[in-house]
Amino acid sequence: MTTENPAARPAPGRLIVVGSGIAGLYSALLAAESGAEVVLLTKGALADSNTYYAQGGISAVLDEPAPGDTVAAHIADTLRAGAGHCNEEAVRILCTEARWDIAGLERFGVRFDLDDDGGPALGLEAAHSAPRILHTGGDATGAGVAAALIASVLDFQAQGRITMFGNAQVTSLAHDDGHVVGVEFLQGGLPQSLRGDAVLLATGGAGQLFAQTTNPSVATADGLALAWRAGAAVADLEFFQFHPTCMVSHRSAAAASGDAHPLLISEAVRGEGALLVDANGYRFMPGYHPDAELAPRDVVSRSIALHLASLGDPNGQVYLDATVIEQLRGGGFLDKRFPTLSRHTRQAGLDWTKDLVPVAPAAHYWMGGVVTDLHGRTTVPGLYAAGEVACTGVQGANRLASNSLLEGLVFGRRAVEAFLGTPGGLPLRANSAAGGLAFTHAAGTPPGGQDVPVASTALSGTPAPLGAMEDLSAGPGARDGFSRAALQRLMTAKAGVLRSGVLLAEAEAALEAWAEELLPMDVPGSLEVRVHEDANLLLAAQLLVRAARERPGSLGAHYRSDTATQAAAVVDFDKRYTMSPKASLVHD
Ligand code: FAD
Ligand code: SIN
Repeated sequence: MTTENPAARPAPGRLIVVGSGIAGLYSALLAAESGAEVVLLTKGALADSNTYYAQGGISAVLDEPAPGDTVAAHIADTLRAGAGHCNEEAVRILCTEARWDIAGLERFGVRFDLDDDGGPALGLEAAHSAPRILHTGGDATGAGVAAALIASVLDFQAQGRITMFGNAQVTSLAHDDGHVVGVEFLQGGLPQSLRGDAVLLATGGAGQLFAQTTNPSVATADGLALAWRAGAAVADLEFFQFHPTCMVSHRSAAAASGDAHPLLISEAVRGEGALLVDANGYRFMPGYHPDAELAPRDVVSRSIALHLASLGDPNGQVYLDATVIEQLRGGGFLDKRFPTLSRHTRQAGLDWTKDLVPVAPAAHYWMGGVVTDLHGRTTVPGLYAAGEVACTGVQGANRLASNSLLEGLVFGRRAVEAFLGTPGGLPLRANSAAGGLAFTHAAGTPPGGQDVPVASTALSGTPAPLGAMEDLSAGPGARDGFSRAALQRLMTAKAGVLRSGVLLAEAEAALEAWAEELLPMDVPGSLEVRVHEDANLLLAAQLLVRAARERPGSLGAHYRSDTATQAAAVVDFDKRYTMSPKASLVHD
């Protein structure tokens, strides 16, 4: 047996972490704990992130799971929700290692809600076969987790173990001889730069691509654009998840109060028994899927869209009936289990113990992203990615609820481990992890510049595209000038919940026309944050639409009404993972 001489190991070096959501904060803390020099940059304040808004919680099978639950069942549920498109090894890692990083969160001060017996209170969400969702503050998991991690980061900063740059928007990655060696960023309207041994992108998602989104304003696809311009491979971009239940009337109430962030009604509310009905009071979900309101998220969003289209009201809304929960669980239950949602619905003028809540789907989560291996390494040496910006293949064609915060933890940690073991990172072969459609390119090749065949299928009887909360069915075309709002309307109308070859071809043409003027493959010379964000959004939209056009069949969240049959035969994951107790990958 050989023993390693710790003195022979190289010093960990400097890690630049971009983003202060769960992936960035947790990775920064772990790297700093291990002695690395950590610099954390974030675009706004530390709490400006998707993470902060997370409601339902974090899925994990713990040492003492709910009766009957196993890690194997979590794996099977994740693979099934992902429509057979997941990287199974990534899923196995996610579900088996979850408990370590839940313990890691607790070490950094996160306190999960407890049940009456003093054990962790476990919620149920759609497409999970057992209650396994840990939460904090009832329905304020993101705020609770972010607050604890931010407090730890501030402690580390005070001890000189983490250097922080707030209001610092990274605008490009610096290279040396094919390696990423630092970042350029804007702070206070001035260009700045930083050098390091590696960069970890933890920049989150891109909900701002669409007119209605659950995401805050920072979600502008920056990380994807930075990585693509640096020559990194991206994959699975056609799969964008729409959350089924974003409250509709809140939008106008919020706009009136100056807070335009739409209100997501957590899936955990359906997990507790809430039902979906249409304007006629008809419960329509059982007609679309045997699991009804607890079907996978893509199925529920699509069913709402198809049902509204069948009623001749494609831009309409359906209603969430949470009153049945109080009837089942007793008065006061909603207030106790969902205090934040109870407050926000009240502020919007609704008493959800008595009133139906108007809801419609909204852009929520991007399954695709920057291709990484199982250690957060992208195809560009020195560049790591973790969290929503990355594509490990773990989320497949449709993410299982509450698996995203978990992904940020597990693969953020694994990226830090790789950085510590091999400073500078190692290249990997393009598309080795994601198992899906991946793009690679020579840096500098615009995505629109590649030869993509035009769909030949003529459509008949295609439902009108769904714009969930305002009339978007016409959508802008190439003749309209670029604005962020026009881009968002275009993407919602032509590349949203329901797509077709014709709509996608129209979207591509409009995007290309804008790209000829804005040149989103180049880093803008502007010192304005919004100009950079707009270029990133346009580039990401081009990549998404191109990926959607290249997948002619429907799969998971990518639903084409011209080829509506789901392409993949989904394996019987239950049989593979859970039929025999011995199939469980850890001893539960
Ligand atoms: P984020 O949390 O989005 O953080 C990204 C960070 O990068 C931000 O700090 C941002 O400011 C920064 N950044 C971006 N660009 C730049 C740049 N150019 N320069 C510098 N900094 C930059 N998932 C679950 O698992 N469970 C849930 O209950 C759940 N509920 C959700 C509810 C809502 C309303 C939303 C919007 C999402 C929810 N999700 C949930 C999804 C989940 O919150 C996100 O996928 C996850 O938090 C992403 O974490 P992240 O660290 O990758 O990115
Ligand atoms: C929710 O609470 O419904 C969001 C959960 C998630 O996005 O995973």
